[in-house]
Amino acid sequence: MELKRNPNSKNKKIFIKTFGCQMNEYDTNRIYDTVKKIGFYKTANSHDANCYLLNTCHIRDKAKQKVYHEVGRVKKIFKSKEKPIVIVAGCVAQAENEEILKREPYVDIVIGPQSYHKINDTILNYLNKKKKEEETEFDTISKFNYLSKVKNKNSKVSSFLTIQEGCDKFCHFCVVPYTRGPEYSRPFKQIIDEAKDLINNGAREIILLGQNVNAYKYKNFKLSNLILEIEKFREIKRIRYTTSHPRDMSNDLIDVYKNSKKLMPLVHLPIQSGSNNILKLMNRKHSVKNYLDIYERLKKINPKIEFSSDFIVGYPGEKDEDFEDTLKLIDKIKFINSYSFVYSTRPGTIASQLKTINHEISIKRLNKIQDLLFKNQIEVNKSLENKVVDVLVENQAKELNKLFGRSEYMTSVIFSGPKELIGKIVPVKILKSNRTTLFGKLNYDSDKKVA
Ligand code: SAH
Ligand code: SF4
Ligand code: F3S
Repeated sequence: MELKRNPNSKNKKIFIKTFGCQMNEYDTNRIYDTVKKIGFYKTANSHDANCYLLNTCHIRDKAKQKVYHEVGRVKKIFKSKEKPIVIVAGCVAQAENEEILKREPYVDIVIGPQSYHKINDTILNYLNKKKKEEETEFDTISKFNYLSKVKNKNSKVSSFLTIQEGCDKFCHFCVVPYTRGPEYSRPFKQIIDEAKDLINNGAREIILLGQNVNAYKYKNFKLSNLILEIEKFREIKRIRYTTSHPRDMSNDLIDVYKNSKKLMPLVHLPIQSGSNNILKLMNRKHSVKNYLDIYERLKKINPKIEFSSDFIVGYPGEKDEDFEDTLKLIDKIKFINSYSFVYSTRPGTIASQLKTINHEISIKRLNKIQDLLFKNQIEVNKSLENKVVDVLVENQAKELNKLFGRSEYMTSVIFSGPKELIGKIVPVKILKSNRTTLFGKLNYDSDKKVA
């Protein structure tokens, strides 16, 4: 039961700083929606917050240190002002739990990602009792039941919608199974109802999210069913999903690429390494061949489908030959937009017991892989110059009179145009490009009509 609204908390301001993946971004929005019920309203100005929440990520590097550093910054901001309630949420909160409260007295509340349904009670409890609070149970079912009753107020043209959380795959390098808990898929209807809310708020693209989004399974419903159901909404023009796992690229999902008109032709499919030895050491349970099979099957269905991926270099045991295999794979599949990272030892994972390789070698490999990935990206974007691409307009760009949107492949596009085009798909002739962005002008004389 939620406690009664606290009269003292009327019209207070909350500021959330978000780190990490899209799921954290989604969570941040849902926290904003939730805390409104107890009178905490979103502010874009961190300096006048009554509640300062850090939504943290634990995936790499010195995640924990970063959090303490951030808390230090907050302390400075509020040195001569009233102290806000300081909340640490997200994956570091889950991993470190009450340790954070012990080590940093400036933090008042620690709340893990599967406990956000308790955030209002936790804040009110804290306000009433002035006692520090820690909530880090894995209670995903209650979380989504609770959140399904709080309207999603996000009004972006391109909106995230979490359909699945957690991971049971335990890749040896990864903290996600520990920070997000077991795999859980939300009820089908709950997701469709939330999609309707997003559409009413103005969404024209929905990006379905999950740590293993294609592991979605609720009764007989799979990700393919969700895509085809959401596609029925006239207002929705584009559908995407992320992050998928090669092991869960099931036949029905591959078939959706034959039948769907709204599923975008970009598949983000992390491979991590192009070497079977390393994939084995990582406990990925897919081989390079499995990956290439998926690639070929999708290309056969629609040659326009392109791939993006995630890579880890310098994994314990990675030899020059293993790394060369990764480069060879990148040569074969010209990934159009990928992320690459140096392996980072994560506490509590199986790989943390392995001997790491020389850091300088890892950095050299990272530079090399990025040169190759970036070269592909630059070439793909260059090849679009003087061509017309369909752009879903998301918002106004920072520059005056310019609009920002994305191509079917998620590439940023900037061009001049009136703001009435926001939410529409328009043809844009590309005039210039760099690695990350296309610049163009509206191309109304093309045969394509504005949708
Ligand atoms: N579920 C997705 C990945 C989620 S984590 C999958 O299985 O592919 C996002 C990305 O962070 C991973 O794809 C991986 O490339 C990177 N990553 C995760 N743990 C890491 C670590 N310990 N060091 C470096 N990169 C890591
Ligand atoms: Fe992490 Fe592997 Fe799970 Fe992806 S599949 S979230 S990399 S454990
Ligand atoms: Fe980071 Fe947690 Fe996402 S560790 S990448 S915020 S699932």
